[in-house]
Amino acid sequence: MKNAKVFIEFSLTLLSVFAGISTAKDWPKYLPPTCHRFDKHLNNCLVDTAHKMKPFLVKGIPELGFPPFEPFILPEVKLQQGSSALNFKATLIDTAISGLTDYEFTRFDFDVPNMQFFCECSIRQLRLKGNYTVKGKILIAPIEGSGTFEASVDNCNATVYQKVVEEKGKNGLTYLTPVFTNSSIQVSGPKAVLQGLFDNNSQLSNITNKVINDNVNELFQDLKPVLEKVVTNIMQDLLFKSIEGQIPFQKLYPPIP
Ligand SMILES: *[C@@H]1O[C@H](CO)[C@@H](O)[C@H](O)[C@H]1NC(C)=O
Ligand SMILES: *[C@@H]1O[C@H](CO)[C@@H](O)[C@H](O)[C@H]1NC(C)=O
Ligand SMILES: *[C@@H]1O[C@H](CO)[C@@H](O)[C@H](O)[C@H]1NC(C)=O
Ligand SMILES: *[C@@H]1O[C@H](CO)[C@@H](O)[C@H](O)[C@H]1NC(C)=O
Ligand SMILES: *[C@@H]1O[C@H](CO)[C@@H](O)[C@H](O)[C@H]1NC(C)=O
Repeated sequence: MKNAKVFIEFSLTLLSVFAGISTAKDWPKYLPPTCHRFDKHLNNCLVDTAHKMKPFLVKGIPELGFPPFEPFILPEVKLQQGSSALNFKATLIDTAISGLTDYEFTRFDFDVPNMQFFCECSIRQLRLKGNYTVKGKILIAPIEGSGTFEASVDNCNATVYQKVVEEKGKNGLTYLTPVFTNSSIQVSGPKAVLQGLFDNNSQLSNITNKVINDNVNELFQDLKPVLEKVVTNIMQDLLFKSIEGQIPFQKLYPPIP
């Protein structure tokens, strides 16, 4: 598993929605109120606001260009993996992720002087469903085919760090811009089933699914960097960039109550 090389490409088409926004938006009035940047209890306020945002994320927030999060659709994810355990190229199409909004933040710190965020959250259960094509090897077994897949984890903990800078937009107002985001995740109980492998040869398909699930923890360790990239991209591009890029700093984190 040394020298694992991971490549990932995204085509989150919805991200183009956020490109080049130049009008200053207000935080929609019906959402839980934002937090004041000099509040002594800013971090508690952020944890609380994140919690209250759940029902709005479930349905989506059109004013901010947020799609519904239950399920959350990833149009296309390309994976290319070269390591001792896994060696394959795969494309996942229209992956529907359910359970993302069943989160609890245990930490949501905004370190205002240093312009950085530290978040820790726990998600109860995640289920993924979609179409795939794959070609390569897992362990010593070949894997090839296309069809539908289902995967799940019983529990997922994520830690996300983000550095932002203040930047003046074309309209002269100041926005927060993420310059660096990273994340790490831990999961328990990963499982996966792939339908349609080897042109539906059920014997080969059964063997391959058994190899996958007998070695699922090891395989997951190999795939972890890819999944962390997915989480990082969702957090940075979808959540932070869209909120921070549309709503001026002054309105998002007002200095005075
Ligand atoms: C996914 O697979 C299903 C069943 O094979 C098929 O009906 C559907 O059109 C596929 N979707 C995409 C985006 O390929
Ligand atoms: C993010 O990167 C910083 C600096 O490289 C590192 O200290 C931190 O542990 C990383 N955090 C996560 C959640 O990966
Ligand atoms: C996630 O965090 C919770 C609370 O700290 C812990 O009980 C659980 O075992 C963790 N899950 C994983 C997969 O690490
Ligand atoms: C495999 O079986 C599924 C479901 O029975 C079917 O939709 C699909 O077209 C089959 N694929 C191939 C390559 O025969
Ligand atoms: C493959 O698994 C399915 C579902 O468990 C079973 O119905 C089928 O008989 C198995 N096929 C072979 C060739 O073992």
